[in-house]
Amino acid sequence: MANRIDGKRISQEIRDELKIRVAELKNQGIEGCLAVIQVGEDPASSVYVKNKKRACEYIGIGSRSYELPQETTETELLDLIGKLNKEEEVSGILVQLPVPDHIDENKIIQAISPKKDVDGFHPQNVGALVSGLTGFVSCTPAGVIQLLKRSGISIEGKHCVVIGRSNIVGKPMALLMLREHATVTIAHSRTKDLREICKSADILIVAVGKPKMIDASYIKEGAVVIDVGIHRNAGQLCGDVDFDSVFSHVSAITPVPGGVGPMTIAMLMNNCVQAMTQ
Ligand code: GUN
Repeated sequence: MANRIDGKRISQEIRDELKIRVAELKNQGIEGCLAVIQVGEDPASSVYVKNKKRACEYIGIGSRSYELPQETTETELLDLIGKLNKEEEVSGILVQLPVPDHIDENKIIQAISPKKDVDGFHPQNVGALVSGLTGFVSCTPAGVIQLLKRSGISIEGKHCVVIGRSNIVGKPMALLMLREHATVTIAHSRTKDLREICKSADILIVAVGKPKMIDASYIKEGAVVIDVGIHRNAGQLCGDVDFDSVFSHVSAITPVPGGVGPMTIAMLMNNCVQAMTQ
């Protein structure tokens, strides 16, 4: 019988632990505040931003939001980031992505002080992950590690296949699994024999961005499957994995919704607490 990995429960567990930690820090006179910047009015981004602010409230840290118009210039955004970098009260800064096309996303990411980069996107934090140094780690892949660990799934020595090579998920995911002593393969849209490679995975992490692309033919009997995808399909949410078709083949799997999704915000809160103490 496959284990359905409950991201909602694990995310709640982490937020409750952080709430206690924030109260302890407050007793020592240490407070935190996350500044969230959104440029434009993308409805999905607005939902994410609202949830991030709500999570700050839950664990007991402050939040500020900057809702900037779509026409905001790159210089205006860089000026705001520069100002927030200097403000002592602000411990974390997050610019919700994507930003409008006339703004260079890389420039924005690099403008945020690495010490306040709670998304873990700044090259200094990415470099720290590559080198095995302390820094902020991208929230979604960090959440996947917590899902595995808190579900009692051992990683060491396992063959992990990550499908996807984005800066936000695929690449940091592979590095984190390597840090946990897995043997790691990164596959992507141009990988030959994708099915065969996936079939050799003990742990398959799917971040391809195609609804229900991965069916049972990609999965080894008894493997662990982590589905990072989320898509709206005729009003229903689904992942990159065809959950119903693979469920009987796997030993454990994350559902969509309620798997990886809730972990991203929990790990963002974890990074916000880390930012308060460095
Ligand atoms: N857009 C989609 N995912 C993310 C994320 O993790 N952080 C930010 N800043 N924007 C996003």
